[in-house]
Amino acid sequence: RRLGILAIDGPAGAGKSTVTRQAAHALGLQYLDTGAMYRAATWWCLQHHIDLTDEVAVVEAVAQCRIRLDSRDPNQPSQVWLNDQDITAAIRSLEVTQRVSQVAALPGVRRLMVQQQRQMGAQGGVAAEGRDIGTHVFPEAGVKIFLTASSQERAKRRWQELQEQGQQEITYEDLLQQIIERDTADQQRACAPFRKAADAIEVCTDNLSIADVIDKIVHLYRSRY
Ligand code: C5P
Repeated sequence: RRLGILAIDGPAGAGKSTVTRQAAHALGLQYLDTGAMYRAATWWCLQHHIDLTDEVAVVEAVAQCRIRLDSRDPNQPSQVWLNDQDITAAIRSLEVTQRVSQVAALPGVRRLMVQQQRQMGAQGGVAAEGRDIGTHVFPEAGVKIFLTASSQERAKRRWQELQEQGQQEITYEDLLQQIIERDTADQQRACAPFRKAADAIEVCTDNLSIADVIDKIVHLYRSRY
């Protein structure tokens, strides 16, 4: 059985968010940023000084999180609410980014998140981005994309983005290192590790504009539905 779901997986900084958001908008699908959910859970644990190596404590804390995503504006990242607090900006902090893979590796945390994600996609009509969407969350998704770019290209794009925002403290080398570390942690975890689904279509964005990538994915989806 194929579900009307667009699944987009890929490594850190491949441009998944912009691409998935815009493709969702063009196709009339609901955008689901699963990374934002793991980030929200991580933010909550840091906020409550939970020992991230204590799985029982982390899962207990995450079970108290009521995460709400508002994705109405296709030109903005999803707004993220946790127990009625707006944490949209807070989940993008360096601290959350450096800790999120550790929290996301815990099976109990993944169980809680995946359960909610499947509920949101139960009727189809969803474009979801993450690391395990095509392999684990929605293996029956109608279209699966594996969005990649070289780690150098991904670090370069991120560096330029930060420069434009006036944040000049972090170097290109630091960003490259962070990206590689996060990808490795996500690939090496035991529970639903990050990898390409056998039936996913790989799209490498190194030499493509964002608009071209979105176009390509929208056409692929339309050709199947
Ligand atoms: O996509 P984003 O960079 O916001 O994801 C943050 C982190 O959340 C990833 O590095 C990964 O550890 C985790 N994640 C995951 N499974 C997903 C989405 C994100 O483990 N489906």
